[in-house]
Amino acid sequence: MDAVRSSEAKSVHAFDRKNTMSHAIRSTPADVKADLADEFVHLARVALAGREQDVTMFVRRAARRHRTDCPELAEALIGLLRQNPTRANPLRAELDSPIPVDGDSRLPLLRVVAPDATAEVPILPAETYRVLTQIVDERKHADRLAAADLAPARSLLFVGPPGVGKTMAAAWLAHQLSLPLVVLDLATIMSSLLGKTGTNLRHAIDYAKQRPCVLLLDELDAIAKRRDDDRDVGELKRLVTVLLQQIDDWPTGAGLVIGATNHADLLDPAVWRRFDVAVTFDLPETSQRGEAIRRFAGQPLPDAAVDAAAIASKGLSFNDIERTMLRLRRRCLLEDQPLPGMLAEHSARLVAELPRTDRLQLAQTLVGMSGLSQRQISALTGVSRDTLRGFTHRRE
Ligand SMILES: Nc1ncnc2c1ncn2[C@@H]1O[C@H](COP(=O)(O)OP(=O)(O)O)[C@@H](O)[C@H]1O
Ligand SMILES: [Mg+2]
Repeated sequence: MDAVRSSEAKSVHAFDRKNTMSHAIRSTPADVKADLADEFVHLARVALAGREQDVTMFVRRAARRHRTDCPELAEALIGLLRQNPTRANPLRAELDSPIPVDGDSRLPLLRVVAPDATAEVPILPAETYRVLTQIVDERKHADRLAAADLAPARSLLFVGPPGVGKTMAAAWLAHQLSLPLVVLDLATIMSSLLGKTGTNLRHAIDYAKQRPCVLLLDELDAIAKRRDDDRDVGELKRLVTVLLQQIDDWPTGAGLVIGATNHADLLDPAVWRRFDVAVTFDLPETSQRGEAIRRFAGQPLPDAAVDAAAIASKGLSFNDIERTMLRLRRRCLLEDQPLPGMLAEHSARLVAELPRTDRLQLAQTLVGMSGLSQRQISALTGVSRDTLRGFTHRRE
């Protein structure tokens, strides 16, 4: 498997080289002119269609294609690519060195979010919230800690399923600390050829170390996987070593480094141990789902509609709830319907998919907690009103 992968990787390289060389060899002035004309028409087509990403990709390919036959053109194009991702970045004036890019694709290795960008407070269990606010307080009172020979926590590990606020919490922490958030997505870095990954990783982390910031190592499991998958074992081991060293060497004054992962079980215990504090993020409880439904509704909702939807959305992440609420709001607007009714209908559909034991439990909870009538609860859960009356009697 390893052999297959690395030979694949080599042949990709070879193909690239061959392409460039054959281009260079058959490049009579007429050929070059014809090629450039073709390229120009293609570029005009994607640009006029407003396909911005395709334009960027085209320019990147052209830069690579013309490295040999027209180095000035390639250089100019690379210059434009470099400017482009940072032009919209409000931090540009503050950050002296340019954001590091991948050697081949010229794509930025990092995403930088300015500290003055809005950061919403994630909905969190009280205990998690307390852990995060302590991190902020430690930084704010570093001198008091120092007097007692203590240093603020430098590194955090966020563990939990997708869509529950790990990235959001990192952004919120950065905001609280008035520091830029620098995001290094390891899944993206790992998808580049392994040979370059170590270099990319070092460049990216060095950049973050040189300025006060919160560095988020997102999708950490992509690199820090236990060494039992089918990648090149030696190379992966070296990458893990690079990463762990970087975390160990993280200067206290530089800010905070946060690792985030959806797969805690894939992380080598050696990686876990490197972080000062580990924070677990879980799928939201009923009350947090209710809070999320209210937040994403964009308008006040009756308690009963929220209660029902909160219970019905068992097992969903915050992100699932957000996307659902936004979809319902769009539909309400287009169909000129009120949101509470639409939400109730949606909840009924979700509930219908739950097994009967869950529906019975929901019906029982609803009888106890919300302003819904027995008829509504029965319609929502598919549990007969006779059974519901049984719940009421048992409660009495
Ligand atoms: N705890 C939360 N509170 C409020 N909104 C959340 C929460 N978690 C996720 N979301 C919503 O879902 C989006 C994606 O969440 P994200 O932080 O990227 O999840 P993760 O990093 O855990 O995969 C957020 O931008 C936010 O809109
Ligand atoms: Mg995330």
